[in-house]
Amino acid sequence: MTKVIAITNQKGGVGKTTTSINLAASLALAGEEILVIDSDPQGNLTSGLGIKKETMKNSLYEMYSGKASVEEIMLQTMIPNLYILPTSMDLFAAEIELLERPDRENTLRNILQPLKKRFRYIFIDCPPSFGLLTLNALVASDSVLVPVQCEFFALEGLSLLIKLLWRIRGGFNEGLSLEGIVLTMYNRHLSLSQQIAEDVRNVFKSKVYDTIIPRNVVLAEAPSFGKPAVLYSPNATGSQSYIALAKEILNDNDLLFKN
Ligand SMILES: Nc1ncnc2c1ncn2[C@@H]1O[C@H](COP(=O)(O)OP(=O)(O)OP(=O)(O)O)[C@@H](O)[C@H]1O
Ligand SMILES: [Mg+2]
Repeated sequence: MTKVIAITNQKGGVGKTTTSINLAASLALAGEEILVIDSDPQGNLTSGLGIKKETMKNSLYEMYSGKASVEEIMLQTMIPNLYILPTSMDLFAAEIELLERPDRENTLRNILQPLKKRFRYIFIDCPPSFGLLTLNALVASDSVLVPVQCEFFALEGLSLLIKLLWRIRGGFNEGLSLEGIVLTMYNRHLSLSQQIAEDVRNVFKSKVYDTIIPRNVVLAEAPSFGKPAVLYSPNATGSQSYIALAKEILNDNDLLFKN
């Protein structure tokens, strides 16, 4: 059974792309068939997985506009069972063009339908906004994984996001659930980091993963080599934390399937 998970938070720079890359890579290295979708016109996921934008013939934009099929766009990454639907800046235009389409929020869901048997997980890396690209991702997904940076405005942004999820469930995708919340860029020397982590756990309880992603320079460095940190430096604390998160997610889902 395929699970489609949107990695989202309207707040910028909280670790959505870093989580998408390293979680997907950890699961792929553990033997799962994984697809990642770069649904952010900034294209950080695409370059972070070593795809050169100049050499790309097609990208998510061509797929949204019906000019290319999924098969023409999908690329294999350096991890053989990790595939990507890459993006380019053109995707900015898709957001505007979608406005005129009657099925504007269902486009990605329809595109993903035929891929569902092939992959165990499909992760969608969302942009830091609530536009039509994010709406398409949320309508196409079974659940939402929310990275939360351990800093002051985290809880405010989170309650806004949860309200949005409830609206999406009410209006567009009643099956959408909260996969979990992952605390990112945690600095154990900062009492603010500890306080935010505690506050988020008090509010969202078991929805917050036990695994916390620490601030770790390897996670920031790896994309410049076009590699996931879990491949570039598997023993770094940041890489180990994403591997632990992948295990936690697999465990949660296995329990769910057995019950
Ligand atoms: N745990 C971490 N430790 C150190 N640096 C990190 C960590 N997580 C992410 N970074 C760095 O912080 C910056 C923001 O991370 P990232 O791009 O993953 O966030 P994002 O939520 O996808 O941003 P955007 O909203 O712009 O899409 C990047 O430079 C990234 O390399
Ligand atoms: Mg990003």
